[in-house]
Amino acid sequence: MKRSYLKLLIDIVMAVAVIMLMEPHVTGLRAHELGGLLIFVVFLVHALLNWKWIACMTGQFFTKLPMKSRVNYCLDALLAMGFFLIALSGMAIAKTIDFTWLPLPGNMMFWRMLHGSAALLTFTAAGIHVGLHWKWVLCHCKKRNQEVVHA
Ligand code: HEM
Ligand code: HEM
Repeated sequence: MKRSYLKLLIDIVMAVAVIMLMEPHVTGLRAHELGGLLIFVVFLVHALLNWKWIACMTGQFFTKLPMKSRVNYCLDALLAMGFFLIALSGMAIAKTIDFTWLPLPGNMMFWRMLHGSAALLTFTAAGIHVGLHWKWVLCHCKKRNQEVVHA
């Protein structure tokens, strides 16, 4: 499979998964908690597939860089932090998986509020992230379509 198709497939999986994770009452709590943990493996693959870009931008961040790349870099860092907070708070409030062995301070109310608000803010940031790559998505969807038609 071509690298760009793998990227596209992973992007679609992440987008659908995150939308479903925003509705725990629809998926059920067990699926929400398991899916919420599993999606991090997918995020990791997504980041690894873009590793060259991350390394290059990290090295050049404080030198001359186009504004768009800077904005993308900051948004990517925010997304990584946001999803990390969601996972941490999710483990603190988990009901179907036992995370009581994790030494997490603070009360349930704090973690629950953090989970809900981090999810909302990060979901919005993910929407902007996809929006900023929309041309890439459309271009690769079209390319894929043409290859299927000509095959
Ligand atoms: C809902 C989840 C997400 C979706 C739907 C999504 C979608 C996309 C798309 C469509 C692209 C351009 C094509 C590609 O390289 O795959 C992209 C690039 C990228 N994404 Fe994500 N992404 C998500 C989450 C994340 C997270 C959590 C991170 C942070 C670790 C991240 C980091 C990056 C990076 C570093 C790039 C390439 C550089 C750039 O921002 O231009 N993405 N993403
Ligand atoms: C990307 C990952 C995740 C997203 C986007 C997400 C999103 C959400 C949202 C939007 C809610 C509803 C919050 C509210 O009603 O105020 C919620 C509730 C919850 N989430 Fe997550 N979550 C994720 C991962 C996790 C993980 C990894 C766990 C645990 C291992 C978890 C455990 C819970 C629990 C226990 C609730 C409360 C459900 C209830 O009692 O109504 N979540 N999550």
